[in-house]
Amino acid sequence: MRTPIIAGNWKMYKDINEALELTNSIKRDAYNVDNVGIVICPPATDLSDVGEMLMESNIDLGAQNCYWENEGAFTGEVSVPMIKSTGCKYVIIGHSERRKYFGETDETVNKKIKAAIDGGLIPIMCVGETLGQREAGKTIEVVKGQVTEGLKGFDENFLKDLVIAYEPVWAIGTGKTATPDQAQEVHAMIRTLLEKLFSKTFAEEKRVLYGGSVKPDNINVLMEEKDIDGGLIGGASLKSDSFTDIIKTTSELYRVKQEKN
Ligand code: PGA
Repeated sequence: MRTPIIAGNWKMYKDINEALELTNSIKRDAYNVDNVGIVICPPATDLSDVGEMLMESNIDLGAQNCYWENEGAFTGEVSVPMIKSTGCKYVIIGHSERRKYFGETDETVNKKIKAAIDGGLIPIMCVGETLGQREAGKTIEVVKGQVTEGLKGFDENFLKDLVIAYEPVWAIGTGKTATPDQAQEVHAMIRTLLEKLFSKTFAEEKRVLYGGSVKPDNINVLMEEKDIDGGLIGGASLKSDSFTDIIKTTSELYRVKQEKN
């Protein structure tokens, strides 16, 4: 069975003091959860100190972006080895806000995934359609393209730890969650595609998270879907009580699922 992951994407929120306070609360509130992967992704300026605070905890650290060169004259960018040295295990790649505001494309996503894995980080690769694309009936085509192009040129062994997050752009920060059926349809398609591109085992083992207005009161219906393996949480990850509620519900549902199997 795939162990679920709940990852918090703090985006451009929390200065260092706020970050340490939130990290401390999440550590305290989630210390006894042992069957869900917990990841927090603070802004780059917080990584080092938060990383220190998370040592010997059940929470992993992630960055929100990386550059694909290890070093050089790339003002403002942060490389994989730099991120790794703060204690990060994960890095979010190709978030829709990066694609929309910072010109990221499937090609840059592909380069960043290569750099991340080469440098020992686990990418959380984000894909998802805009409202216009959904309304034009292009959801499947768009997401298929993003997954295929983002993972082009890699073999399944190279991608063994990769995590995928399906985040419909129209559901991010809008309060509009995809219905469990809408999400499941795309998750199932991603898994079928992974089987075609790689293998059945690879597809069965791959964690595919859902993201877009996940809250304590909708995580349960989403997690009940067969192909949803956790969540990438934005707004609700900025407060310990809502984030740890989501973690605890996921943990409980996973325990029940395990008992049934
Ligand atoms: P949201 O953000 O939960 O605030 O919709 C999700 C994300 O952007 O990863």
